[in-house]
Amino acid sequence: MKLTFLGHAGFLVEGSTNIVIDPFLTGNPKAKTKPEDVKANLVLVSHGHGDHLGDSIAIAKQSGGTVVSVHELAGFAGRQGAKTHALHIGGSNTIDGVKIKLTPAWHGSGFGDGPMEYLGTPCGFLIWLDGKIIYHSGDTGLFGDMELIGNSQPIDLALLPIGDNYTMGPEDALKAVQMLKPKLVVPMHYNTWPLIEQDPDQFKKDVETATESKVSVLAPGESLEL
Ligand code: NI
Ligand code: MN
Repeated sequence: MKLTFLGHAGFLVEGSTNIVIDPFLTGNPKAKTKPEDVKANLVLVSHGHGDHLGDSIAIAKQSGGTVVSVHELAGFAGRQGAKTHALHIGGSNTIDGVKIKLTPAWHGSGFGDGPMEYLGTPCGFLIWLDGKIIYHSGDTGLFGDMELIGNSQPIDLALLPIGDNYTMGPEDALKAVQMLKPKLVVPMHYNTWPLIEQDPDQFKKDVETATESKVSVLAPGESLEL
């Protein structure tokens, strides 16, 4: 399967089913992809912040795809006309042939800049697709239950924030890698704005020195084969 970094926390996974996660393209200064060019069967949204919910509802509607998220966010997407499948933390189901399980994330999920609508708890995702297991942590701080996640299934690819300020920074992301033990890590949620500036190559060095995991640094628009 092919994984494309859309910038920020956004990824497109193309396999027997096409999955887009947290597509924030409109208003993203680093994005190389236009939302109208993204087609996905499943649109996974980790929380209600604009840099994650982003273009997800528009992409789901133009693709006839299904928004998968927590109950509250799925309800919000449904009221705007998207097809939805609501799950909640710890719950899994097979949707379009893909097993998806929601994992906890320590963050917020208010939508809007003025009076906010709260879209439930934020989440991360475990995705079983074409014999591989992908973990997208969502926006989160480090938490000890990553050890449980790492021990419960062998993770092929972990998508982890390193930007600091709003999420884990590189030091905590290294601790996350030590608990999750993934084969490969792709860092995310950095360098979109000055506030989350980080050096992903230094993160790669630190992880590959301290753990068995490999790190692939992708520029927005870049892909790798998994
Ligand atoms: Ni956020
Ligand atoms: Mn974010």
